[in-house]
Amino acid sequence: MRALILCGGAGTRLRPITHTRAKQLVPVANKPILFYGLEAIAGAGIKQVGIIVGDTAAEVEEAVGDGGAWGLEVTYILQEAPLGLAHCVLIARDWLGDDDFVLWLGDNLLEQDLQGFVDRFEADRVATMTPTLTGGQDRPAAAQILLKRVPDPHRFGIAELDREGRVVHLVEKPEQPRSDLALVGVYLFDPTIHEAVASISPSARGELEITDAIQWLIDHGRRVRSEVLEGWWIDTGKLTPLLDANRLLLEMIEPRMEGEADAGSRLDGRVVVEPGARLVRSHVRGPAVIGAGSEVVDSFIGPFTAIGQRCHIEGSEVEHSVVMDDSSIVDAGRIEDSLLGHHVAVSRSRALPRATRLMVGDHCQVAIGT
Ligand code: G1P
Repeated sequence: MRALILCGGAGTRLRPITHTRAKQLVPVANKPILFYGLEAIAGAGIKQVGIIVGDTAAEVEEAVGDGGAWGLEVTYILQEAPLGLAHCVLIARDWLGDDDFVLWLGDNLLEQDLQGFVDRFEADRVATMTPTLTGGQDRPAAAQILLKRVPDPHRFGIAELDREGRVVHLVEKPEQPRSDLALVGVYLFDPTIHEAVASISPSARGELEITDAIQWLIDHGRRVRSEVLEGWWIDTGKLTPLLDANRLLLEMIEPRMEGEADAGSRLDGRVVVEPGARLVRSHVRGPAVIGAGSEVVDSFIGPFTAIGQRCHIEGSEVEHSVVMDDSSIVDAGRIEDSLLGHHVAVSRSRALPRATRLMVGDHCQVAIGT
């Protein structure tokens, strides 16, 4: 079993952060989203990992390297243009060979581990190859998909199941969804998928859709297994889900104090203070993490906040937010529900006339409180 991780795409829904950064490398709970996927893949005993990269190739390669940090052997495959998920499978054909593989969308985060999902695919294949176990009725599944009930199915690929729970129909982002079962961005395939991706045509949005390739398998008599996910799943491509993911992952952290806090500081609940971080007359109410080398002075850091490395927070309150490395928030009042990129500076101006003075890049969103 191999794994193919998709790390291309423009990340338009997370601009401006993704003007300068791969969406898969945005940190949640101070760790890039992609690293959770690499951990899950390594945890399922998979070693050979192909990563499809696009415009942000250099950054992804710098962060992941040869994969040795996770015990993986990583190969990078360049996708010249974002032509769809099935196109990624097409260009990885030679590297994938005739192995089964996990297709993993690098911006998806899920609570469930990968091991059980892979084990059940393999167990199904063994059972169907032993006709006495199944009455000889079924061929081995050519694919296995993971589904999750969602309130907004028009945003995802959607699956329809028949009464026996078999996948009969898949549609990509339907205007009028006939089910609320969204396709999670983790799929298992046997080599039959190569014929499928080579046979389909681009969709209306000009992409080769993996949804269409799986439909092709069904239309050609191949069985597609499905499982409905119980735990949480987040497609992190937008601000609100990203903050949700940060909250869910911070809820799971183990408290750790590796920095310093002076006598005037207080830490409540699950708080991680990384090495070299310093708290001065500040209150941190977890779950929260203060990154290595950051300083928090005369401030309140509220629940569900991840402060990156080498940040400076002074005279301010920050809650339910992600603040990336090398940013400063000084005398800024209260900041909530916010995502701050790298090297961002937020401060209070004393200059007259009193005014809000901004220098913000393209596609930024600023909501002024008072
Ligand atoms: C892609 C797939 C879609 C799936 C989703 C999961 O969508 O095309 O079927 O439900 O990932 O994250 P997109 O990347 O276009 O949002």
